[in-house]
Amino acid sequence: VILTQDELKKVAAYKAVEFVESGMILGLGTGSTAKHAVERIGELLKQGILKNIIGIPTSKMTHEQALSLGIPLSDLDTHPVVDLAIDGADEVDPYMNLVKGRGGSLLREKMIEGACKKFIVIVDESKLVKHLGGSGLAMPVEIVPFCWKFTAQKLKLLFKDAGCVAMLRTFSETGEPFVTDNGNYIIDLYFKKDIGDLKAASDAILRLTGVVEHGMFLGMATTLIVAGELGVTMKNK
Ligand code: A5P
Repeated sequence: VILTQDELKKVAAYKAVEFVESGMILGLGTGSTAKHAVERIGELLKQGILKNIIGIPTSKMTHEQALSLGIPLSDLDTHPVVDLAIDGADEVDPYMNLVKGRGGSLLREKMIEGACKKFIVIVDESKLVKHLGGSGLAMPVEIVPFCWKFTAQKLKLLFKDAGCVAMLRTFSETGEPFVTDNGNYIIDLYFKKDIGDLKAASDAILRLTGVVEHGMFLGMATTLIVAGELGVTMKNK
């Protein structure tokens, strides 16, 4: 049987949920892959197979989904230590560094996944890359709306050697800026060449005033689950 991409996402998500135990505080990811995991957790709670789970959602969208499934919810203020988070990613390099945020939820994801003892990343094999930023897809940066063009220009100049293009994320139908759950804008960076050292790139972006957070998640994932045509593979840090 040949599985669709969505079925592969589901396979990876269900595998990750096997690591959920009753009583856990769980970081609930965002996106088309993570939503399968949240759905599965809701199902196991309903069946009584899992008990006393508390979910910490990484976006308003996941909050809504988890509420509709009857998953008890909390936040980092009340539960500053999270046992396990399960989330998707846009790109994964061979060292398990990630690009996230094409759904726009990078800030809450990074806060919650940074507070986890264990962070399982679930992807289909299309997300695997050699170098972050090399897939020709966006590297998202969340910025404050105030003088966004100024900040976008600064970001572009930071990576001028990599042929960076910086674009405000907008809704294609209306042309209106996309606004994050935190009331901010997203600048999507596109690179023509390798951006070099990731830690240096991360530090440089975060030093810019006006930047809130970026979508590179370096050294945060503890487990990677990849679903592909030949089956599921798992890798630990
Ligand atoms: C949300 O902002 C993102 O970080 C998602 O986790 C990421 O974009 C993966 O999404 P998909 O599972 O939909 O590809």
